[in-house]
Amino acid sequence: MKKNELYETLMNHRSIRSYTDQPVNEQEMTLIMNAVQAAPSSINGQQVTVISIEDLQTKEKIAELTGNQPWVAQAPVFLLFCADFFRAKLAAEQNEENLVITEGMESILVGATDVGLAMGNAIAVAESLELGIVPIGGVRNQPLELIELLGLPEYVFPVSGLVVGHPADLSAKKPRLPQKAVWHKERYDTNLDGLIKEYDQTISNYLDERTNGEENRGWSQQVSSLYNHIYYPEVRKMLVRQGFNFK
Ligand SMILES: Cc1cc2nc3c(=O)[nH]c(=O)nc-3n(C[C@H](O)[C@H](O)[C@H](O)COP(=O)(O)O)c2cc1C
Repeated sequence: MKKNELYETLMNHRSIRSYTDQPVNEQEMTLIMNAVQAAPSSINGQQVTVISIEDLQTKEKIAELTGNQPWVAQAPVFLLFCADFFRAKLAAEQNEENLVITEGMESILVGATDVGLAMGNAIAVAESLELGIVPIGGVRNQPLELIELLGLPEYVFPVSGLVVGHPADLSAKKPRLPQKAVWHKERYDTNLDGLIKEYDQTISNYLDERTNGEENRGWSQQVSSLYNHIYYPEVRKMLVRQGFNFK
């Protein structure tokens, strides 16, 4: 099988955290948004809305709300990917139905999955145009303030941001887990300790080289130091405030 350009683009991915001030033009933005809308969606509900932000003052505020991430303000475009059941609410009203899905966790899985697929498409197209990106989960850091800032209505919540721009430098491609750890055949294989230790070494070497010896923690150390607390504690409050009243 011949490798194709899409495969090469996907395999060349790396997050970019340094951008030039060259703008992303309207045609590039339209291609990215066409790809967002072309993604599959649960029940064809199309539960995704993207807010594109170019205004410097707004980007600076978002950079602060996401936990002071300078690339959010530096890059020409910030895209906020939202899970959106507001249109479903309008559809329900037009058909004299009740919107009940938002009372179950299912709605969060639906919204987050749709956003993930749409953002994956956006990333693939942006990178195929030689633009750089970095997703920003930090939009869930102070989500209530972000919702206020951008005027998100009920049944809409931010899932992830996406910084888009022209890379000022290309970071090194980050190695992934050994494939055996993520591709299990026929049954889940829980025998993963050795593969995790192997990857710890790979990531430690990678970071050591990238940071000239300043950082060399392994993957398991990094992940466990983040997952030992709920790092975005406002998420539940944010969902309830947006109308997701879980039973
Ligand atoms: C949903 C999501 C949220 C992320 N949030 C952030 C973020 O807030 N800030 C950041 O610098 N990187 C963020 N990242 C980027 C990851 O750190 C990055 O994808 C991962 O370390 C793998 O590196 P790579 O993308 O260069 O291959 C996020 C990635 C994803 C998929």
